[in-house]
Amino acid sequence: MNFWQKILAEKKMILALSPMDGVSDFPFRSIGKKYGQMDVVFSEFANVEGICRSSSSRILDHFDFDGMERPFVAQIFGKTPSFFKQAAVLLCELGVEGIDINMGCPAPTVANHGSGAAIIKNPSLAKEIIKAVQDGVREWSEGLELKDCIDISSKMLIGVTEKKKKFSLIDVDRKKIPTISVKTRIGYHEEEIETWLPHLIEMRLAAISLHGRTLKQGYSGKADWSVIGRAATLIKEADPSVTFLGNGDVLDYEEAKQKVEEFGVDGVLIGRSSFGKPFVFLPKEERSKFLTEQNIFKVALEHAKLYEQTYPETEGYRFLPMRKHLAWYTKGIEQAAVIRSELVRSNNSLEVEQILKKHNLI
Ligand SMILES: Cc1cc2nc3c(=O)[nH]c(=O)nc-3n(C[C@H](O)[C@H](O)[C@H](O)COP(=O)(O)O)c2cc1C
Repeated sequence: MNFWQKILAEKKMILALSPMDGVSDFPFRSIGKKYGQMDVVFSEFANVEGICRSSSSRILDHFDFDGMERPFVAQIFGKTPSFFKQAAVLLCELGVEGIDINMGCPAPTVANHGSGAAIIKNPSLAKEIIKAVQDGVREWSEGLELKDCIDISSKMLIGVTEKKKKFSLIDVDRKKIPTISVKTRIGYHEEEIETWLPHLIEMRLAAISLHGRTLKQGYSGKADWSVIGRAATLIKEADPSVTFLGNGDVLDYEEAKQKVEEFGVDGVLIGRSSFGKPFVFLPKEERSKFLTEQNIFKVALEHAKLYEQTYPETEGYRFLPMRKHLAWYTKGIEQAAVIRSELVRSNNSLEVEQILKKHNLI
């Protein structure tokens, strides 16, 4: 049994933190897991060409994790199968539990280059990419070394060695191979699951996640859960061993449970509704215990401190990306506008602490 099947056997439903570029970095995932206890955590996506050829190993920060975050699924995107294969070998070296291939991003910077959701229009490339990842994982399990991957730069090799040291991964077990999954959308211009999904099913993936919008829709309109329900039937009839997760506009644990019951998915990915609210993954009874202003801002401060510690200014990082999270934590509280306007100008966790104390929020 793979880890998806194990969780399902135990809990009957899988709740996962959706991959979100620019949002679900290590501090967000770590705080999310600590306070939301979701079953699976996805990384933000990383470009396979960047992984192979980047002159800096900073891209590896996308895949930072600690013991708590497991099972951890690293997401990658791109359009060149040989880079996917080498990125897969690198992720095996980093000891991730899962490798997810993005075939759903609608952003022009991704899809206009033939990656992300554009792959829906190119099923033969989709299959080549999945095969490349499968080959990478298999060859690694048979002894392939990262240094023998021709496009992996020497900087990246050093970066991987450093990460392995940092996360105590010196002896990664080559028998423990990551699962391979795909996250996609219901179509390109129009919904087209009956023609698109069979190509993915054919590739014997461990899991498929489906966002109920087309590429053309971007994030507008509502996710179409009736299409996700049809996809669940289609996938389960073709290959019941595939774990199938639905995604789009799910607010919290109760709504996820309802989607599982009504549409036959094995679980749900939750993205935006977790902004500033890692507790949405918990059942209402447990969730309500956390939902006091004092608790929310205690978590916000802990998040800010972890952010600073993970991305220190001394290594060239800035605090700015943390500000949006701070704004999200203020949603729904009294005086939100005033507090938010101060928090989004903060430059470090000390300033955050001072602002929160001034307003008696911690
Ligand atoms: C800021 C942002 C960044 C995203 N980045 C990614 C990404 O890196 N990979 C991916 O597969 N989906 C990405 N998505 C899509 C989400 O994972 C998810 O499919 C979408 O937000 C719908 O789920 P939700 O309604 O629960 O947010 C992103 C979404 C947002 C809002």
